[in-house]
Amino acid sequence: KHIALIMGGYTGEAVVSEKSAAVVAQHLDRDRYTVYPLHIYPGNWYLEGEDGTHYPVDKNAFTVLKEGQPIRFDGVFNIIHGSPGEDGKLAGYFDMLGIPYTTCDALTSAITMNKGYTKAILSGIADLHLAQSLQLFSYGPETAAEVLAQLRLPYFVKPNNGGSSIGMSKVREAGELEEALRKAFAEDRQVLVEEFVTGREFSIGIYRAKGTVTVLPATEIISSREFFDFEAKYSPGVSEEITPGRMDESEVERVNRIAEQVYRKLNCKGSVRMDYFLEKDTGRFFFIEINTVPGQTETSLISQQVRATGKTLKEFYTELIEEMWT
Ligand code: DAL
Ligand code: MG
Repeated sequence: KHIALIMGGYTGEAVVSEKSAAVVAQHLDRDRYTVYPLHIYPGNWYLEGEDGTHYPVDKNAFTVLKEGQPIRFDGVFNIIHGSPGEDGKLAGYFDMLGIPYTTCDALTSAITMNKGYTKAILSGIADLHLAQSLQLFSYGPETAAEVLAQLRLPYFVKPNNGGSSIGMSKVREAGELEEALRKAFAEDRQVLVEEFVTGREFSIGIYRAKGTVTVLPATEIISSREFFDFEAKYSPGVSEEITPGRMDESEVERVNRIAEQVYRKLNCKGSVRMDYFLEKDTGRFFFIEINTVPGQTETSLISQQVRATGKTLKEFYTELIEEMWT
């Protein structure tokens, strides 16, 4: 089978995607699949040949002309974080061409890329809590005052469609809010301001393969920085990550049940990763967000979680690929 491994993308997460793709490429089963690394950048989609030659992608058919022969793909392994890989744009394009891919469909991707809309859909799941938040669609002289009137400090301020904590700030006092809003609005036209939940952070991978949904062991994140920011996410040693995280049996049971319901309610496909806070005083799980194209870099959490189950990454990626044809 011919697999297009697509990487890059149109956002600041392109560098992360290239790193994720390098890890995936290393672990794909070459006896089963012929793998073609495809780089997707604005105005520049190309296959990189073994000697470094760039062969352009024909976007009308998603084929590549190499040595006079068009290469057609039986499926796409999507490792583009952010737009257009994680927000449904490429999913819609591949649907129109009838090419299967490893990640969520266009609708699910589009919704889950938007942190505010995702929360709106998830309200109502038993035992799942959502921090109070405001989704802002514009920024003006009154915005900060409105936020302060409606939400209790401290806050997380995030680009609503962002990833990898780019443009995100933690706001402890009112005076820090303006700058945080400016920074987030520089990245996105929508911003989410969310009340901070005091507790411990867990990140959980989930995937569907062979007809079953599997919840991977949760990773607990202990960041030595203000929060799990870009540095902490991608520099080894900046945060401590424990897999499986410290939870008692009933907490594991509860969060696994929540995570599986979220996966089903959002109609997810492939491997996704969800972030939760376990609130210190109440023991409640707060859903923070879902990533439908989670990082697969050497320091990424999913890889750690898969290894913790005793499975190899090669077996894991094979399961994800085989699932896209079912
Ligand atoms: N958005 C990054 C890649 C992640 O969730 O892992
Ligand atoms: Mg994210």
